[in-house]
Amino acid sequence: MEFNTLILEKEEYLATLYINRPKALNALNSEALFELETAVRDIRSDSNIKVMIITGAGDKAFVAGADITFMVPLTSDEGRFFSDLGERVMRQIELLEKPVIAAINGFALGGGCELAMACDIRLASETAVFALPEVGLGIIPGFGGTQRLPRLIGEGRAKELTFTANKINAQEAFRIGLVNNVYPPDQLMDEAKNLAKKIAANAPLAVGYAKHAINKGLQVDIDTAMSIESDIFGLCCATIDKIEGMSAFVEKRKPKFEGK
Ligand code: HXC
Repeated sequence: MEFNTLILEKEEYLATLYINRPKALNALNSEALFELETAVRDIRSDSNIKVMIITGAGDKAFVAGADITFMVPLTSDEGRFFSDLGERVMRQIELLEKPVIAAINGFALGGGCELAMACDIRLASETAVFALPEVGLGIIPGFGGTQRLPRLIGEGRAKELTFTANKINAQEAFRIGLVNNVYPPDQLMDEAKNLAKKIAANAPLAVGYAKHAINKGLQVDIDTAMSIESDIFGLCCATIDKIEGMSAFVEKRKPKFEGK
């Protein structure tokens, strides 16, 4: 699949998506967001793909935010549309039935940090820098950042980062739970691929269902969440992969999952 602002590579079970606007440190304009939406749709419908990695092309930036040049002339209505568009695309990543790993290889600012937060698991290079600098530009985070950051790191820390626009490094991002792990820059992609491989060895439907159960359960009260979990557990029990996974255990062999 050919894009102007992205590079999509597929190998076996893995799709790696590079945000690729090197002249703007991979900043997201509306074209990039529409292309991201197309890429996610393609990955959703490709039954070979079990895991997706999102990273930035080049060695300086994951994504340095929404494209400021693009936002300069936006009217109120156009701004609302742009925020809606970004929120929709981030949500599609969050709702994708396949795990998405953000391999954060540099600046993850504003919309870039928001893109990383829409992914399921965040791995960072030691060189990564995180911030929500929006209030310094007279706007607020508009790709879901005001909602996902407090859910991830708690209200107090989220408000401090958002109100100050402070930049934090990868170690600090790790300390506050914004990223799962930090690696030397030259090891980041290998580590992301190792993680993808581990995930891909498990039953794909069960992994997708687990993602759904976690995502849905976090939005509701604990009793409703338990009932979502048991409903989805029931769905797992109707899969061929459940029979395969359990038979393989009993027969002391490795399972061969079909995603059915
Ligand atoms: C457009 C950007 C950009 C951005 C960098 N560039 N970030 N263009 N939008 N978000 C461009 C620069 O203008 C420059 O282009 C080139 O990329 C290289 O950047 P430099 O600034 O020269 O690099 P450096 O000095 O290393 O500084 C890197 C940086 C800085 C710290 C990342 O570029 C920066 O602060 N960028 C803005 C980050 C930001 O505020 N992001 C949040 C945006 S608001 P030229 O042509 O000069 O070479 C947002 C809102 C989301 O994301 C929600 C919307 C609804």
